[in-house]
Amino acid sequence: MAESLRVSVIGVGYLGTTHAVGMAELGHEVVALDVDADKVAQLSAGVVPFFEPGLPEVLTRALASGRLRFTTSYADVAANADIHFVCVGTPQLSGSNAADMRYVEAAMQSLAAELNTPCLVVGKSTVPAGSATRLAAVVAQAAPVGAGADLAWNPEFLREGHALQDTIQPDRLVFGVTTDSAERTLRTVYGSVIDAGCPVVVTDLATAEMVKVAANSFLATKISFINAMAEICEVTGADVATLAVALGHDDRIGPRFLHAGLGFGGGCLPKDIRGFMARAEELGVEPAVSFLREVDAINLRRRTRMVDLAVEELDGELNGKRIGVWGAAFKPESDDIRDSPALDVARTLKSRGADVAVYDPQALDNARKKYPELDYCPSAIDAAREADLILHLTEWAEFQTLDPVRLDGVTRGKRILDGRGALDPARWRAAGWSYRALGRP
Ligand SMILES: NC(=O)c1ccc[n+]([C@@H]2O[C@H](COP(=O)([O-])OP(=O)(O)OC[C@H]3O[C@@H](n4cnc5c(N)ncnc54)[C@H](O)[C@@H]3O)[C@@H](O)[C@H]2O)c1
Repeated sequence: MAESLRVSVIGVGYLGTTHAVGMAELGHEVVALDVDADKVAQLSAGVVPFFEPGLPEVLTRALASGRLRFTTSYADVAANADIHFVCVGTPQLSGSNAADMRYVEAAMQSLAAELNTPCLVVGKSTVPAGSATRLAAVVAQAAPVGAGADLAWNPEFLREGHALQDTIQPDRLVFGVTTDSAERTLRTVYGSVIDAGCPVVVTDLATAEMVKVAANSFLATKISFINAMAEICEVTGADVATLAVALGHDDRIGPRFLHAGLGFGGGCLPKDIRGFMARAEELGVEPAVSFLREVDAINLRRRTRMVDLAVEELDGELNGKRIGVWGAAFKPESDDIRDSPALDVARTLKSRGADVAVYDPQALDNARKKYPELDYCPSAIDAAREADLILHLTEWAEFQTLDPVRLDGVTRGKRILDGRGALDPARWRAAGWSYRALGRP
């Protein structure tokens, strides 16, 4: 039986909730804090305030075990945990590419002010290079004499939609530490994960915080690479889907993240590559990551291309046309709409005169709250009602299995644009539809 530690998790959004539940699942005594009292009340009642497959069941189990509870009190977490994971948000600053570090700084300061015994503070949020060393000084200054907090960085790589599995069975653990005791504590916290064979990379703070932004930059680059190829395919008549299959057979390239479509969005990749560029500029090494500017531009051009294709399909006129949009989340198996390509396209088409009806299996509530100007429908069929054109913008399995024959007599036109290249063209064409996808003839 692995050793049980007293752990706190600070900031219970997508990352923090999953981490808190995961820590309890690993056998630790967990107290999780957020400044949002409503969120704390919901989680305490066993309700996960966002969609993540499997998480509600494990939250219920963790609450019932007595190993997990939620609080809004920093004094509570300081008194009842010896290792504190900071998981608050680092969104993009408005009007700048840089990451907004206010929440991380506030969380570290609030925690440090309440500390009364030596402990380990572990940053998990994605932060610009150089933050950890600066934050170590913030913690040291705010902590009362004798409290002696050590700071480590343990970046998180979980993917929404697979968050719990990625927490309990990660591909690797990265520990950025400055003391042997911090490494020992982290090895104990993740004892059962490490025993199960997970590789551990132990390094300094600067490398640990950089692993995350470098990984996201690589993934974003791979996606934009195939989307750049799609742009070329669109003028040469080549098929980007076949091209990707052929490229992916090369072991050095591999097939993953090589799926052409509407591109990436969400609360991580876009803001992480922009934050990386902003930080590189501050450090005087902007040219080293200037390629990320193009990665970002390629990504955003796919959204423009989708809008242009929709206009083209509707004979250049959006006024009086109805468009059914399938998908609002930035990716399937999530209700996260942060920087969602689907909603970006839907809103642009609406602003240009189309009547836009959106359906998503999980993200409707979030979308409705943020963008009330769009119409929302309770099913894919409802969103397609009287539509002149359907746009498939988030690749939920439900859209892939939907039989196009079910739309006979429902839509006004039989035209579909597949922004994710995930539908079966033969099936749609056999049912009498005009099917087009990005980068495909
Ligand atoms: N979402 C992901 O898939 C993911 C994956 C890996 C890394 N990350 C990184 O993790 C961090 C958190 O991301 P997220 O998606 O969970 O964000 P989020 O916005 O869902 O959650 C952030 C939470 O922090 C809380 N918070 C803000 N200020 C606080 C404070 N001073 N004290 C306590 N709580 C506070 C907010 O109320 C919110 O609940 C970011 O740096 C992100 O880049 C996220």
